[in-house]
Amino acid sequence: MKDLEQLAIEQQWEAYTPEQHAIWRTLFHRQEAILAQRACRPFLDGLTALGVAAEGIPDFRRLNDALERATRWRIVAVPGLVPDDVFFEHLAKRRFPSTCFIRRREQLDYLQEPDIFHDIFGHVPMLMNPVFADYMEAYGKGGLKALKLHNLEHLARLYWYTVEFGLIRMPEGLRIYGSGIVSSKGESIYCLESEKPNRIAFDLLRVMRTRYRIDDYQESYFVIDSFEQLFAATQPDFTPYYAELAFLGDLEPNAVTTEDRLI
Ligand code: PHE
Ligand code: CO
Repeated sequence: MKDLEQLAIEQQWEAYTPEQHAIWRTLFHRQEAILAQRACRPFLDGLTALGVAAEGIPDFRRLNDALERATRWRIVAVPGLVPDDVFFEHLAKRRFPSTCFIRRREQLDYLQEPDIFHDIFGHVPMLMNPVFADYMEAYGKGGLKALKLHNLEHLARLYWYTVEFGLIRMPEGLRIYGSGIVSSKGESIYCLESEKPNRIAFDLLRVMRTRYRIDDYQESYFVIDSFEQLFAATQPDFTPYYAELAFLGDLEPNAVTTEDRLI
């Protein structure tokens, strides 16, 4: 296992240019308006509680004060995508690895790899929620285990369809909690309002069987009823599930089965 410190860097907040802060503000205000009626309450509350994020690219040192007080999580700066074992090790220790660079103005609407707007605006508000914060730590530990069991593909789908692209049914209606959605203007609207994608009630094995696309909006979203439900469903030892998954086989991103409960 690689030393975690080896891949950690300094954010160097002082080095951001006025234009980079302006790009952050453009993205922030645009998403704030779109998400007011579309993101779930815990996300919106987390964003408000972080406070410091509206004026420009936030300084991780200030974010960490709020985050550590709320749920004992912290952000660590990394240069880009980190190896799986390093990523899981961070999560298992309640550390969220975040990139530091921000997209260029020509990339406001779409970027293939995560930047600081996705990592911070998208992920950190949910880490302010105690149940979700515990889920992310458990996921990190599960990742280290899945690595040893050679079942990373299955477990990665769970992250994708919950942490990145999850929807939740709240008393006020269907809402977004997935980071990949909240950091995207187009998908924030599409995931709730388009007729095209499937919206399927969350089922752990169903999720882990389902392939996903990384180059376009999702063809299926999985809907939880609460973060407690998600946490409880992922508590059992996955070892027997992995055996069953090998037997069940994969499903295409747009598949619908007779057992699916469509929302
Ligand atoms: N319970 C899972 C296991 O035994 C670990 C896990 C927890 C995975 C939460 C994902 C989310 O492997
Ligand atoms: Co992400």
